[in-house]
Amino acid sequence: MSSDPACSVARIELEPKWLTLQRDHNERVERERAAARADVSTTNFERSHYAAFFDALAFEVAPEDEWTARERILEAFRDAHVDGNVERDAFMSELGEHLVSKFGTKALRRRKDNLNITSARVPSEKVNLRVNKKLAKAKRMKGRQLDPNRSRKIVASKAEDAISSRYMTEFLQLHCATELVESRVFPDAKELTESFSAFNAWRTHLSDDFSADDPNITLVSVGDGHTPRTAALFAFRTRWNCVAVDPEMGFAKDSKASYDIDRLQHHCAKIEEMRIKTKRCIIVMVHAHVSLATTLRSIQAEDGTAACIALPCCNYYSAIDAPNRAVPEYEDMSVISPHRTVRVWKALPCGTSESPQ
Ligand SMILES: C[S@@+](CC[C@H](N)C(=O)[O-])C[C@H]1O[C@@H](n2cnc3c(N)ncnc32)[C@H](O)[C@@H]1O
Repeated sequence: MSSDPACSVARIELEPKWLTLQRDHNERVERERAAARADVSTTNFERSHYAAFFDALAFEVAPEDEWTARERILEAFRDAHVDGNVERDAFMSELGEHLVSKFGTKALRRRKDNLNITSARVPSEKVNLRVNKKLAKAKRMKGRQLDPNRSRKIVASKAEDAISSRYMTEFLQLHCATELVESRVFPDAKELTESFSAFNAWRTHLSDDFSADDPNITLVSVGDGHTPRTAALFAFRTRWNCVAVDPEMGFAKDSKASYDIDRLQHHCAKIEEMRIKTKRCIIVMVHAHVSLATTLRSIQAEDGTAACIALPCCNYYSAIDAPNRAVPEYEDMSVISPHRTVRVWKALPCGTSESPQ
């Protein structure tokens, strides 16, 4: 729970994830065991049958680069026992045990269901299982001209030529540009333009009602990503409390455990696990994969309303929507992504400070 009176952020226990995972795991194991029991109950063979068959094959270590597919050994057993029902998993497990006890784990090798063994009845075959990725790529690319535009295609829109670099320019002119770069919150230019678009939406459509100097405002950036990028941008450029919430927060290899940015909090959580109580609230949803209704249920503001800026993406265009927008939705051509629709609301109903937690 944050101690700032203008903004209290608490995490509630939904359903412990480990409980769900454990239950799913137990159910899956139980289903697999039941299937194995059903299967085994129909087999006519016992371990001794398999052991006798493997002994008769008299396996040896195969010459270099020669392999025997496990399935061929099973086929040989089936051919030799046409009337019986072979349980595949039991057969493979007996085969594995037999080979390990015969050759030891050092001599025995397995590649993609092939074993480095041979026998007169099931002879090994020359198979090239070694894939050298660099060589394979070099072979594929031989004689091909590299496309100078081969980097990620960033815009799939008819209005490609209308894309502007204004947010990159704005970024370069910012006092906090160095700190933003040092904090490593932005993984690439695409994410940067999306966060700047949200900031521009506030500046253009909400700044009369939500002043940058008002410390009573809390900005909640929902689905901010692995790093608290949009929340950080607002924390640098306003005097608000800025709270980033995302269940993937901190999961990128260069995510930090903490960021030395005033008034910024980041939480590795789903928004539905959070209860955020504040005097005034602006929700920002930049390509968030969660609905607006779910988000609003986690917010409590003094007058029971929250403003919202959203850039929906993927299949969240209808889940991040509500009537009575402050301005008609618009396409922000400075966002380097095909998902550049911006929606702004001045007052959406959320909880009030008196609502139960
Ligand atoms: C497409 S990514 C967008 C990340 C970032 N805003 C960006 O534009 O790069 C969608 C994000 O929504 C987050 N998300 C999914 N469910 C969520 C939930 N219930 N509460 C908060 N965030 C959620 C995901 O973890 C993911 O980081």
